[in-house]
Amino acid sequence: MIRQEDVSIELKNAEPLQYGREEYLKFHEEISSKEREITVLFQEKPVFDIMVPKGVFNPYGGIAAQAFVSGVLNEQINAEGKRTLDLGCGCGIIGLSCILKGSTNVVFSDLHPNVTAISNHPLFREQDRVTVQDLCATEQDGAYDLAFMPFPSRSIDRPIASDSYEMGILRNDDLVFRGIEQVGRVLASGGEFVFFYRVFNDRFPLYLEVTSQLAKYFDLTTVKLLWYIGEAKGHGLLLSVKKY
Ligand SMILES: C[S@@+](CC[C@H](N)C(=O)[O-])C[C@H]1O[C@@H](n2cnc3c(N)ncnc32)[C@H](O)[C@@H]1O
Repeated sequence: MIRQEDVSIELKNAEPLQYGREEYLKFHEEISSKEREITVLFQEKPVFDIMVPKGVFNPYGGIAAQAFVSGVLNEQINAEGKRTLDLGCGCGIIGLSCILKGSTNVVFSDLHPNVTAISNHPLFREQDRVTVQDLCATEQDGAYDLAFMPFPSRSIDRPIASDSYEMGILRNDDLVFRGIEQVGRVLASGGEFVFFYRVFNDRFPLYLEVTSQLAKYFDLTTVKLLWYIGEAKGHGLLLSVKKY
C-alpha cells in the first residue's frame, strides 16, 4: 500500500486561513481565492515548489494528491519512460513528479483556464505540454502509457463553471463515466490508469456502476488498490488498472 504520509505539502509565506478543511467548500474557496505557492516534501525533504494559480485546486491540506505523488516518487507507480497524461492536472503536482521520475513526456490537461501557468515551472521541458480542454477530448487514441485522474470528491447534480474553484472539488458523476471512457480511448494497450475517487455510503451502487464502466475498457484482473481511506461518510479509493 502506498504511504500517503510520506508526502506533505506546505504553504509558503502562509497567513492564517479563516476556514479549516472540515468546512470543505469554504476552505477551498478561501485557499483558491488567490495564487499561493506550495512546497512538496517527500520523507520530510523538499522536492519542488509550485505556484498554484488563482481559482485552481490547491492540494494543501488534502489527501489524494499526496497519495498519487507518494506512489510516483517511491516508484510504486512506474512513470519512467512513459508517455504520461496528468488529467485534471490542477497545479501540475502529479505530472511534475512524473517528470522527476523520467516520464518521456507529460501532457497536463485540465478544463480550468488558469492551469497554463504550469509551462513556466522550471521542471517543465520542451517535450511537455499543457492544454485546456474537457478531459482529454483532443488527444489521440492510444497516445499514452500512463494516465492519472484525481476525480473531484463531491458529487452534485448541477453544472459547474470551468473557471471556478468549484471545478476542483465538485463533480457530476457523469464526469467519472466520461473520464473512464476517454482514458480508455487514449491509453495504449497495456497502459495504466491511476485514479482517485470517493464513494459516499448513500451512493454505494455508484461503485458497482463505475466498476462496470471500467470493465468495458480495462482488464479488471489487473486492478490494484494502491491506497484507501475510510471516512465517516464514505471511502476514498486510489486504484490502478491496465487497459486490455
Ligand atoms: C481534485 S482536483 C486535482 C488537481 C490536481 N491534480 C491535484 O492533485 O492537486 C481535480 C481537477 O480536475 C479538474 N477537472 C474537473 N472537471 C474536469 C473536466 N471536465 N476536464 C478536465 N479537468 C477537469 C479540475 O479543474 C481540477 O483541477
